[in-house]
Amino acid sequence: MTHAEKSYPLNEAKPYPYEQWWIAAYSQEVGRSLIQRTILDRPVVLYRTEEGDPVALAGLCPHRLYPLVKSRLQGDSIQCGYHGFTFDKSGRCVHIPSQDKVPPRFGVRNYPVVERGGLIWLWTGKESGADPNLLPDLEAMGLGNPDWSVEQHPMTTFNARYQLLIDNLVDLSHVSFIHSNSIPGGGAVVNIPYEIVDTNKSLNVRRLGRDLPCNPLMKFLFPHHEGSVDQNFDAEFFGPNLIRTGGNISASGKSTNADSKSLGITNFIHGITPETPTTVHYYVVTARNFRLYDPAIEAANLSMGLKIQPEDIAALEAIELSVDRFADTRRELSCMADAGAILVRKRLAAQIRREVNEEQTQAAQGALAT
Ligand code: FES
Ligand SMILES: [Fe+2]
Repeated sequence: MTHAEKSYPLNEAKPYPYEQWWIAAYSQEVGRSLIQRTILDRPVVLYRTEEGDPVALAGLCPHRLYPLVKSRLQGDSIQCGYHGFTFDKSGRCVHIPSQDKVPPRFGVRNYPVVERGGLIWLWTGKESGADPNLLPDLEAMGLGNPDWSVEQHPMTTFNARYQLLIDNLVDLSHVSFIHSNSIPGGGAVVNIPYEIVDTNKSLNVRRLGRDLPCNPLMKFLFPHHEGSVDQNFDAEFFGPNLIRTGGNISASGKSTNADSKSLGITNFIHGITPETPTTVHYYVVTARNFRLYDPAIEAANLSMGLKIQPEDIAALEAIELSVDRFADTRRELSCMADAGAILVRKRLAAQIRREVNEEQTQAAQGALAT
């Protein structure tokens, strides 16, 4: 792996921030069977206690690196399938079958987890920083909110660095090209002016399409509506772990806020978890605040996802191959539509740099103390 391959497009010392919540799994993926997922290049084993609480431990047995996923649960503990070392839910080694005593500090890393919005979130940084208040307001976008319906699309892992997925989601002008056949009305997006709404919680690249024809998808979603619509194509970055796209749809010329004039809100919630420096786990959840639990919409959303996501993935895997070969020899040309994505890159680079600086400061203080 070359340096350029590792650092593009941020050019920072580390590919991702660690002081961060990431989606480890959909809630229903995790139960009383062990599953393994690689997150930020580290294997993690996930399960639930008998009480149903999610647990995340480092995925390799510290004895001889046997994958703990091939082991078995004994109550709330994992008994390694190789020589039987047993680790409790905190990761502490509590039993070594071949001897009476367990040396102090034997164990595996326990990752803080929190379950929210139908998702299991895992903290990869220092334990003291694992504050659930750092999670985005999931309920406001429809996750874990009884007034909304959601569909969880199957998680996909693909061969592109997570920054490419962020670039893709923050610049929705690609919808008019890559998704011209799969998103009805998507052809209009590239011509809709955008504004950037930057708060301390998110950075939203907002497009409001006014007076758009009521395309077949709109007719299907809002069968009683006649006439054109005003539709938001938001791309809201909450952090490297989550981006919301979509937004409010209202009758043309009416308010675009989620008030009584609104026909409804459709959010596409994109969960992004780096698997390795050059591969990514991608979670997509669709959420809407109208026609709740309607099986026809549910089926339509899931089947649209089966068309749309492979289109993005094919593009990003192709770009990953180009980046791998050429990123250190070419200069990117950027255009006006890239402003949001460039701000997001800067924000993410600054987040990584802060962590690197903090580590260096701490290392220097440690060296002075010794
Ligand atoms: S590798 Fe796990 S007990 Fe030996
Ligand atoms: Fe896309």
